[in-house]
Amino acid sequence: MTNLKEKASKVLMHTYNSLPFSLVSGNGCYVKDHNGNEYLDFIAGIAVNALGYNHPEFNKAVKKQLENIIHYSNLFLNKEQIELAEKLTANSRFDKAFFCNSGTESVEAALKLAKKIGKTKKNGAWKIIAMNQSFHGRSTGSLSLTGQKKYQESFLPLMPGVSFVEFNNFDDLKQKIDSDVCAVIIEPIQGEGGIYPAEKEYLEKVRSLCTEKNIVLIFDEVQSGIGRTGFLFAHEYFGVYPDIICLAKGLGGGLPIGAILSTEDINQFKPGDHAATFGGNPLVCSGANAVLTELLDNKLIEHTKKTGVYLKKKLIALQERNNSIKDIRGIGLMLGIEFNHEISGIISSCREHGLLLVGAGVKVIRFVPPLIVTEKEIDKALDILENVIKKDN
Ligand SMILES: Cc1ncc(COP(=O)(O)O)c(C=O)c1O
Repeated sequence: MTNLKEKASKVLMHTYNSLPFSLVSGNGCYVKDHNGNEYLDFIAGIAVNALGYNHPEFNKAVKKQLENIIHYSNLFLNKEQIELAEKLTANSRFDKAFFCNSGTESVEAALKLAKKIGKTKKNGAWKIIAMNQSFHGRSTGSLSLTGQKKYQESFLPLMPGVSFVEFNNFDDLKQKIDSDVCAVIIEPIQGEGGIYPAEKEYLEKVRSLCTEKNIVLIFDEVQSGIGRTGFLFAHEYFGVYPDIICLAKGLGGGLPIGAILSTEDINQFKPGDHAATFGGNPLVCSGANAVLTELLDNKLIEHTKKTGVYLKKKLIALQERNNSIKDIRGIGLMLGIEFNHEISGIISSCREHGLLLVGAGVKVIRFVPPLIVTEKEIDKALDILENVIKKDN
C-alpha cells in the first residue's frame, strides 16, 4: 500500500490527508481493507451510507436501473426523479424539488433561489445571514456562507453581502438583519463545526422573524437530514419549518445526489435559471428511492430513533466513567463526544482495534454510523472506544 500512497502523491492534488490504505468491500456496518482487516464503520462515508454496505434492496434497485439506463439528461422527463420528488414532498411540507449532485451544489441552488426571491419579491434584497462555525461547502458561494476562517482565508475575497452571527443567539441575528437581507441559512445541527444542535426556541424565533421580515429561511440538512435525527428531516425534530432545505449525503446511500426542497411560493426558478447535467439522473434516483423506501416503508426511521437514544445513553454513561470527556451532544445518530484534549490519537487507536471514527474539529469525535446500525454494534463500538480511552489515561 505504500506503493498506493506514493502513486497518490504523484498524481492526486493533495486536498485530503488520506489514510494510507483503501477499502475494498463492505457488508452491513462493516468494511474490509486490502489486507482483509475488518472494521466496524461509524463514519459511513461521513454520514452518507445510510443503508450501510451491500444492502440487498438498494443493490437490487440500482442494478436494475444500471441494466436499463443510467443517464439521459433532464432534457427528458425522468420517472425515477419524479418518483423521488413525490416521496420527498409527500413526506414533508414542501411542494417542489430540484436535484443536483452534492451538498455543496444544494447550498448553491438554495442561495440562488433565495437571491431570486430577493430580487423579484423583496425590492432587490441580496444579503445573506449565516452562522459562525457553520459549514456549507467549499465552492465560492457555499464557502462564503461557511463561518470558519480556516476554510475561507486563502480564498478571500469571496461573495459579498454575507454577515455571520453567533449560532443560537437570537439578539445577534436580530441586530444584523436589515432590509437588504433576503435569506438566513442555518444547519439545525452544526456538523463539521463540532456537532452543536440548534435550540428549539432559537429556531422558532428565527422562523417568526423571517416570516415577519419576508426573509427566506434555509435549513442546511445535508448532514442532519434523511433519517439521521430519528425523523426524515431534522427540522421535524424541532417542529420548525424552513422555506428551503438542502439535502445530500444520506439521500443517495452512497450515490452522489443533492437536492433542495421548497414550498410553492418560494419556487421562482424558471427554465435556464439553474441546472445540473447529472442532477437527479435515473441511476442516483433509483438508489435514493431505495433509501427512502427503507426509511419510510420498512420502518428504518423508527429503528434510527431507537438506536439514537440507545447510543446517546451509552455515551452519557461512558462520560460518567471518564474524566477526559467534557460533553456529549447531538440528536439521533448524529452525536459528538467532546474530549478535554485532542482526539487524533484516540481515532487512530480505535482504527487499530477495528473501529472507524471521524472527528469534527480537533477535540470532538463524531458518531454518524449507518442508519441500520444495531444495538449490538453500538455496544461493540463503545467497548473498543472505552478500552482505548482507558489505555490512553
Ligand atoms: C451541513 C453541510 N452542508 C454542506 C456540505 C457539503 O456537502 P458536499 O461535501 O456533499 O458537497 C456538508 C459536507 O460535509 C455539510 O456537512
